[in-house]
Amino acid sequence: VSTYPLFLRLAGKRVVVVGGGQIAARRIAALRASGADVTVVAPYIEASVTGVRVLRRSYDGPADLEGAWLVHACTDVAEVNARVAADAEAAGIWCVRADDAEQSAAHTPAVVRSGDVGIAISAGDPGRSIALKAAITTALETGELAARPTRAATRGWVALVGGGPGDPELVTVKGRRLLGEADVVVIDRLAPRALIDSLDPSVEIVDAGKAAHAHNLTQDQINAVLVERALAGKRVVRLKGGDPFVFGRGGEEAIACVRAGVPFIVVPGVTSAISVPALAGIPVTHRGYTQDFTVVSAHLDPTHAGVTVDWQALADSRGTIVLLMAVERLDKIATELVSRGRAPETPVAIIQSGSTDDQRVIVGELGTIAQRAVDEDVQPPCIVVVGDVVKLREQLGFGT
Ligand SMILES: C[S@@+](CC[C@H](N)C(=O)[O-])C[C@H]1O[C@@H](n2cnc3c(N)ncnc32)[C@H](O)[C@@H]1O
Repeated sequence: VSTYPLFLRLAGKRVVVVGGGQIAARRIAALRASGADVTVVAPYIEASVTGVRVLRRSYDGPADLEGAWLVHACTDVAEVNARVAADAEAAGIWCVRADDAEQSAAHTPAVVRSGDVGIAISAGDPGRSIALKAAITTALETGELAARPTRAATRGWVALVGGGPGDPELVTVKGRRLLGEADVVVIDRLAPRALIDSLDPSVEIVDAGKAAHAHNLTQDQINAVLVERALAGKRVVRLKGGDPFVFGRGGEEAIACVRAGVPFIVVPGVTSAISVPALAGIPVTHRGYTQDFTVVSAHLDPTHAGVTVDWQALADSRGTIVLLMAVERLDKIATELVSRGRAPETPVAIIQSGSTDDQRVIVGELGTIAQRAVDEDVQPPCIVVVGDVVKLREQLGFGT
């Protein structure tokens, strides 16, 4: 006969664990996560076991199982486990024997958890269950196994997800999972757009920006879309390039959610400011080269919404400068830095479309880089790195 699978709600229910070794510790952790009222009976208990009632002695008979809904027999002595199982059987309590699944009234499955999804696996032999668990976990995390909820959400929400610099494999596992659960995805121009192809066709895609300087939606319109859809009970993923809170206006979207009473979460992303240099062989810090790096938005120069960039401090610093949105103003920026004392020979790298098939890297010096960029017809999006760390590229085998 086949076994009968169940998920148990154990919150507040008494569960007895006999044994205190590593297997018991794993079972106890899972029982505690389900809110069970756990009593452990064992002369020795793993230090990691906390937050449970402990009877520090050997198993003493049926009285130890009184009032229990479930028993785990996890000692390393088969006779004791058999006795616990027999006592539980006589009292009409389900018992899981850790040492012998075949002789056990119940056995624990291998479990995969991903957000709201819980998958219990029983495959005959434990090694096979573990292999299946690994395969299912990977498939869920990579989005290969779509797990989009079919029921409407009880309450809509917004997830501000950092998509990384463009390579679809550089999104976080959590970001990828939420994308697979979304009813609506509001996507940016520089977000990893390839991820959209794998989504269910019924997911609403709102394109917030297709080309530089040709935004489809203003920031206010984007905020309104996020809030309206969430208030209509939708699961909304705002998929952004890099990290939502690094020059991504994610803070403004979060404030719009707060004001509208919409629950939101932030899923940080791999920012282009650090990852794009890395992918071009440039660590933004390196022992013996620099102790600090500064990330600057050069979008509005010299002020951005009333906030001034301190070019003098940047010129005085010996640290790495990472410039975003700098392509059109490279001439002005280089002039600011050189005229304020940064050496014209300072190495500079421009990395265009980092992490994508179109990535290209131009290396030069601060004094002449702006003209190089014009000669090479550099186009946004680009990260510009200023500082000695650019020299490391050669040592790391990325060319000059
Ligand atoms: C509005 S900012 C958004 C930054 C983003 N939130 C982040 O953390 O990476 C856009 C700028 O990021 C930089 N950028 C983003 N993705 C890039 C990529 N794949 N390659 C080069 N630069 C990139 C460019 O400087 C671009 O103009």
